[in-house]
Amino acid sequence: MLLSMQDISKAFSGVAALRSASLSIAEGEVMALVGQNGAGKSTLIKILTGAYQRDTGLIRLEGEDVVFATPGQSQARGIATIYQEINLAPQRSVAENIYLSREPKTRFGLLDRRAMRDGAAAVLKTFNLDIDVDLPVAHFSAATRQMIAIARAVTQKARLVIMDEPTSSLDEREVAILFQTIRTLKKNGVAVLFIGHRLDELYEICDRVTIMRDGQTVAESAMADMPKMELVRHMLGKELAAFEAIARDGGSEAKPVRLLADGVGSGVRVRDVSLTVREGEISGLAGLLGSGRTETARILFGVDRLQSGAIRVDGRERDYNEPADAIADGIGLVSEDRKIDGIIPDMSIRENMTLALLPKLKKAGIVDRARQQEIVTHYIKALGVKCASPDQPIKELSGGNQQKVLLARWLCTDPRILIIDEPTRGIDIGAKAEILKLLRRLADEGLSVLMISSELEELLAAADHVTVLSDGRSVAALKRNELSETALLAAMAHQVN
Ligand SMILES: Nc1ncnc2c1ncn2[C@@H]1O[C@H](COP(=O)(O)OP(=O)(O)OP(=O)(O)O)[C@@H](O)[C@H]1O
Ligand SMILES: [Mg+2]
Repeated sequence: MLLSMQDISKAFSGVAALRSASLSIAEGEVMALVGQNGAGKSTLIKILTGAYQRDTGLIRLEGEDVVFATPGQSQARGIATIYQEINLAPQRSVAENIYLSREPKTRFGLLDRRAMRDGAAAVLKTFNLDIDVDLPVAHFSAATRQMIAIARAVTQKARLVIMDEPTSSLDEREVAILFQTIRTLKKNGVAVLFIGHRLDELYEICDRVTIMRDGQTVAESAMADMPKMELVRHMLGKELAAFEAIARDGGSEAKPVRLLADGVGSGVRVRDVSLTVREGEISGLAGLLGSGRTETARILFGVDRLQSGAIRVDGRERDYNEPADAIADGIGLVSEDRKIDGIIPDMSIRENMTLALLPKLKKAGIVDRARQQEIVTHYIKALGVKCASPDQPIKELSGGNQQKVLLARWLCTDPRILIIDEPTRGIDIGAKAEILKLLRRLADEGLSVLMISSELEELLAAADHVTVLSDGRSVAALKRNELSETALLAAMAHQVN
């Protein structure tokens, strides 16, 4: 056994995050670690890597008892980690990030910039990533940053690579490349611990699975011996009603168009996008990563300026200078990258949740605390946010629970049009169904939703119709009765024939 963790427990200010959790991984094994949001997955690996200290329990690496006081110590023993929230130095170059604290030196002890540049370019090439390694990491998309972080781990000659939700910001092509890399790691005897919420992916790439619930390990088995429903049952601790379709079968075509994009363009990423969102419907926006979905949302929300085409809101032509103009028109945007323009880590759940609502909560400059409390309590319950109290700093929540708070931030402003970018990224299967149902309920009450999603399953389950983008252009508009996995994939690959 390469690694075994036994009876690990950990409490944060008296609240148990882990209660006797266990995990074992053999050499060259790909182990899935699954569980609902807040089950303790990230905490367990942070203890393994020395980012957190355990309260009790044993960690054995290659037969030897170990305690890592810092991440540096576990790294020195061949444990590399790709965190859920990418931990790169944004202002430093790609090459510097890949070699961070292991920079190659020349004979004279100087930084060997050329070796660094060539080495970084070579390793990225094995990921089919051909980018300028002199540019700062901040220059690249979330997906590319993720690939850079993985490349860094690979160069660290790790024995165990831990990946916390590595695919959540990757598109299908990039996931395929990542899986290829995992297979190569495996062949070289490197073990991989893979934390993820997308079950199909886990079944594709993992050998074994460890399932956690409420801070405990509840099952461990070969992937092949664990039927999907059984796995979900272990995760939830109860049976889950099937991922039911909650889209409407037509009927919304008669409703008035709330938001219309007509040949919208801006810069090189968005060239010609047309779409409609009617009252009370969920309009899907699909496309591969880099197809211009997020950039389109930014234009519709007034973050980026419209350069060509037209936007109409309730029939009136609109050209927003800034998001405040869009917000004044009743538009909300839940962005995809919660770390970059989402959460304020040190502020409480309450403050994070009511940030967009704050102006409306103020009477004569004073926040209406009672009303604020009522709203926060409501959404914590409605979305099932797992937290100790609304006063807890949001950074203490698990990734999926942070996402729920962000979603609530916009829902509580009562928007008329909600643009939502990857609504269920990083959210477990139980909560995912809940969130889609909630969006449907809101749509039934008249909300117009534009839902950007990389998950075909989600679009098929929830969207009333779907616009597909490819290379900054809308290339297909699929009605509910035309929607299928094949139709979506074909349009995304832009194989129109
Ligand atoms: N620094 C911290 N302070 C206080 N509580 C914390 C801290 N880190 C984690 N927790 C709590 O520990 C529990 C487990 O969280 P963890 O991040 O391990 O969940 P997870 O399984 O990774 O979930 P997700 O799928 O949402 O990422 C949660 O209830 C979380 O709020
Ligand atoms: Mg986590």
